Order: sequence, then C-alpha cells, then structure tokens
Amino acid sequence: MMASSEPPNALEYVQVNTGPRKPRILLAASGSVAAIKFANLCHCFSEWAEVKGVATAASLHFIDRTAIPKDVTLYTDEDEWSSWKKLGDSVLHIELRKWADIMVIAPLSANTLAKIAGGLCDNLLTCIVRAWDYNKPLFVAPAMNTFMWNNPFTERHLITIDELGINLIPPVTKRLACGDYGNGAMAESSTIFSTVRLFFESKAHQGNSNIS
Ligand SMILES: Cc1cc2nc3c(=O)[nH]c(=O)nc-3n(C[C@H](O)[C@H](O)[C@H](O)COP(=O)(O)O)c2cc1C
Repeated sequence: MMASSEPPNALEYVQVNTGPRKPRILLAASGSVAAIKFANLCHCFSEWAEVKGVATAASLHFIDRTAIPKDVTLYTDEDEWSSWKKLGDSVLHIELRKWADIMVIAPLSANTLAKIAGGLCDNLLTCIVRAWDYNKPLFVAPAMNTFMWNNPFTERHLITIDELGINLIPPVTKRLACGDYGNGAMAESSTIFSTVRLFFESKAHQGNSNIS
C-alpha cells in the first residue's frame, strides 16, 4: 500500500470503544548523545499522555534509566526476544505499533534515519517503523554532528522519509556536545512536546473525541 504524503488525521484510525482516554505516545530513542535528554522528554509527555518508551542498544549508553518516570515502561531489543517463546505468543514490535496513536523518535540518529529510509528493520525500533501505519503520525527529531547533518546522505534520507509522510522536527544550530558549533543538535524537549501536542489537538478538534 502506498503511504500518503498528506498530513494524517491523528485520531482517524484510533479505535476506542471505552470512552475518553489519554493519547498513547510511543517515544523512541536512538544512539545520539542527545538521548541523555530522553528521560526529560518522557516526563514532558507523560504529564499529558500515556507513554511507552523504546530504546536502541546504542541509545542505552546515554539514557539514565533511573530517571525515566515510573509509569513509563522502556522496551529494548532484549524485551523483543524475551517476550516471544513460541508460536502464538505476541510479537512486541507489532503490539507496540498497534498500541500507539503517535510515534516520536527523539533523538533520531543518522544510522536509524538511514535504516528507516532504506526499510531496514534489525532492532525493535526499526521493526516498529517498518510495520508502521502511516495513517498514524510519526515524528522524528534528528540529532547528529554538523558533519553528519550536512552529509549528502542526510538530504537523500530526509526526502525519502518525507515521502512516507514522516513529520520532521528539525535540529537546531548551537554548540554541540562534541564542542563543534553548527546545525544538528536535537530540538529542545519543550519544542518536540509542543509540536506533537499541538498537532494532535488540532486533529482532535476535527475528528474523534474519545481521546482527551
Ligand atoms: C559518544 C558517541 C556519541 C554519538 N553521537 C551521535 C549523534 O549525536 N548522532 C548520531 O547520529 N550518531 C551518534 N553516534 C553514533 C551512533 O551511536 C552509531 O551510529 C550507532 O550505531 C547508532 O545506532 P542506533 O541508530 O541503532 O541507535 C555517537 C557515537 C558515540 C560513540
């Protein structure tokens, strides 16, 4: 099925039969140094939404798991495999894909950007994206060194994910963690949160009112 490049209705495809509930946000981190802000991002979102986290193996070098809110479960590649034992068991990346109303990948590493653009799916995060229903919003907030950001591959990959309907929250220019100055730093957590929330609420006014 071809993905639409039109902005999707955030709520159009959410099946809710049990009355009002909070939005379900799947917050994912890949292996940028900006993942040190992931716990803070979880706090921002969890005050408004039901949040589940996904972390790549590389991102775990930067995430302080003790700082993640208690009500946010952080899933890793280990969980993907330990939760499946035999035929008939649920498959974590499919369950998370079904559960989420919106997915937000922040930070998005150059590597995960390339994998998404190429359709690769060799870990929990990229399997969720590979199975994603593009009628539901998917936001990405890239974070990488300026040399990586300015590399020609970045533009190619951004064009591809734009065609899929993925929403870009652009990086900003500032002094980077490595000491270099330039574009490539992840947008502020508050910007990421407000972008997603505003998008969601503007769509909520147009459609389904079962989600508060
Ligand atoms: C200290 C350190 C910092 C890094 N920071 C970044 C970064 O900001 N952005 C990025 O795209 N890659 C960064 N990398 C490289 C990624 O971690 C590497 O490409 C990794 O394979 C990404 O895996 P993932 O996309 O599965 O999370 C960094 C690597 C190291 C060792």
